[in-house]
Amino acid sequence: MDDESPALVSVVMGSKSDLPVMQDAEDILKKFSIPYEIQIVSAHRTPQGMIKFAEKCQNRGIKVIIAAAGGAAHLPGMIASVTICPVIGVPIHSQNSIQGWDSVLSILQMPRGVPVATVALNGATNAGVLAAQILACDSDSVRTKLEEYKKELQEHVAKQNANFKK
Ligand code: RP5
Repeated sequence: MDDESPALVSVVMGSKSDLPVMQDAEDILKKFSIPYEIQIVSAHRTPQGMIKFAEKCQNRGIKVIIAAAGGAAHLPGMIASVTICPVIGVPIHSQNSIQGWDSVLSILQMPRGVPVATVALNGATNAGVLAAQILACDSDSVRTKLEEYKKELQEHVAKQNANFKK
C-alpha cells in the first residue's frame, strides 16, 4: 500500500499466477483501509526465504498472514509451522491443480496444534474479510467499516429480492 503506516496484514502467494485471484483480498484490505504488504513467497522454489519471512513476521508487527497456493499447496501450512501469527490459507485453483481438491486438502488438513484458517477455493475475498474481522478485535475503525460492509451485503440481497418481485 502507498500508505506510510506499517503493514498489519501480509499477503503472500506461491506464484505470480495466483495474483488474479489474490487481488480480491487486496480489494477488501483497501476498502477497509488496512495497511498491507503483498509479495511472492514460494514454499518449494524459495524455501529458505519462506522460513525467514515467517520467522520475522511477528516482530515486524504483522498481525495476520494471508497465504495462497495452488496444487501441492504447502505454503500456508509451512508458514503456520514457524510463526504464531494467525494464518489464513487460500487454496488456488491453479493450472497444475486437480480441480482444486489438492489445493483445498493440503491447506485444510493441518495437523493438530498448527492451524490454518482455510477459506473456500479461490476465496480471497473471504480471506480479506476474515483478516479484517481479526483486526477488528482491536480496532474501532475496522469494526465500523465491517459493520457497514455487512449492511451492504444485506442491502444487496434486499435489492435482488425487490427485482424478483417486479
Ligand atoms: C503453486 O503452484 C503456486 O501457488 C501456483 O498456484 C501453482 C503454479 O505456479 P506457477 O507454475 O504458475 O508458477 O506453488
